[in-house]
Amino acid sequence: MSASREHFSSRLGFILAAAGSAVGIGNLVGFPVSAAKSGGGAFLVIYALFVIFLCLPVMMAEMAMGRNAQKDPLGAYKKLSGNDGKWSFAGLLGVFTPFMIAVFYMVITVWIFGYLAQTAFGNLDQLADANNFGTFINQNSLFVYMAVVAIIVNLILLGGVKKGIEKAAKVLMPTLFVLLVGLVIYVLTLDNAMVGVEYYLVPDFSQITGKVLNIALSQAFFSLSLGMGILMTYASYISKKEDIVGASKMVALADSLVALIAGLMVIPAIFSFNPDVKIDELSSSSVSMIFVYLPKIFLAMQADIGYFGASAIAFIFFLLVFFAAITSLVSIIEVPTATYIEEKKVSRKKALIMMSFTMGLLTVLCTLSFGMVEWLTSFMNYGGGSKSLFDLVYDVFYDTILPLNGLMVCLFVMYRWKKAKLSEELSQGCDSYIGSWTEKYVNFSLSTFIPVILLLIFVNTVSSKFFAYSLLGF
Ligand code: PHE
Repeated sequence: MSASREHFSSRLGFILAAAGSAVGIGNLVGFPVSAAKSGGGAFLVIYALFVIFLCLPVMMAEMAMGRNAQKDPLGAYKKLSGNDGKWSFAGLLGVFTPFMIAVFYMVITVWIFGYLAQTAFGNLDQLADANNFGTFINQNSLFVYMAVVAIIVNLILLGGVKKGIEKAAKVLMPTLFVLLVGLVIYVLTLDNAMVGVEYYLVPDFSQITGKVLNIALSQAFFSLSLGMGILMTYASYISKKEDIVGASKMVALADSLVALIAGLMVIPAIFSFNPDVKIDELSSSSVSMIFVYLPKIFLAMQADIGYFGASAIAFIFFLLVFFAAITSLVSIIEVPTATYIEEKKVSRKKALIMMSFTMGLLTVLCTLSFGMVEWLTSFMNYGGGSKSLFDLVYDVFYDTILPLNGLMVCLFVMYRWKKAKLSEELSQGCDSYIGSWTEKYVNFSLSTFIPVILLLIFVNTVSSKFFAYSLLGF
């Protein structure tokens, strides 16, 4: 263990940073829309079961690997496998995946920042125009927004673990929660809001199909920041005194709670705007929800609270999403940064400059792939259609490789590192772990059905995304 490795200053700091990573755009918009479209309360129950029974064991395994090795994912796979080349490959993928997901997440965060700036400039009416988004994603001012976001993220990361990541999480997470609860309270006072609450919470189990199960599991996996090496890296910044089992539960709870509460903001707002809305017909993508549909809802609020009031509500919403996105972005960029520092033995500053150049270049290319540059826009053809560079990054890394990384964590921990070592690591800081039901469940699930489920999802995604053929029928 390197004696100089920086650690979080407290258990709370670690939990807030990990929760900051987990709480992101997925919670605030993706989750509510998926839940409303897929059975309301029934989706919530299934989601909660997936978080507890499928995601928590993977989360504990990732954290255990990171803390035991006191290294980034590449270092952890290498160290814990005794430098076995096969597993170094898993480590490489565990670093390359967050690198690429950071690119796609950065593109969206830049848009959010742009919308935040535009609301601050008093342009909500323009944002609510149906054609605005198409023009917005193709304008040069995006590069100015990108520079600002990059500076904010780099300043946080430059501060290191305690003075950067932890401090940002300690400020941003409580603020985010207050803004969220404030918005929920306001939205619930609107006309017809209760119709939305009912739609969101009343269970309809007839909607639960194989496809919905897949959506719920992917959503939970992404939302908890699994398979991205983030929790492994963050856990490498805590000591043996900390209780990983308890911390995982706290992170999962905080993440799920924010998602649940966000639904009480988004769904009632949609219903108050249009009580006859057909939720099934709403776009499934969080992107069109945030950038096309919600601005219209905010603008409509001017009838009650005037243009300034409506702009203030929109501003708070975009600020909330922006804070959530920043803490996620910081966590994901920290993974390749930590690896680069470790592998090349360079300073944090040098590593960040390297990340800014490489990731920055790819982010610019992805930003240009929505129409500004033709060859990036029609970058490839697969799965029965033409895809942009952004689509490719999204399909390959977010949709496909994430479950594969999760699968590798399960296989590695159970069959290479071995159960006894995992249990021993998880019992440090949690004396009651050995012999508990949790231990039995974690060991059984990680060695049997969780990897099988992740493998099925991986194979099904590859066949449906890239060969337009669905093995599982969805
Ligand atoms: N958990 C985040 C979300 O729900 C996803 C994420 C985390 C994305 C970290 C990138 C980095 O939006």
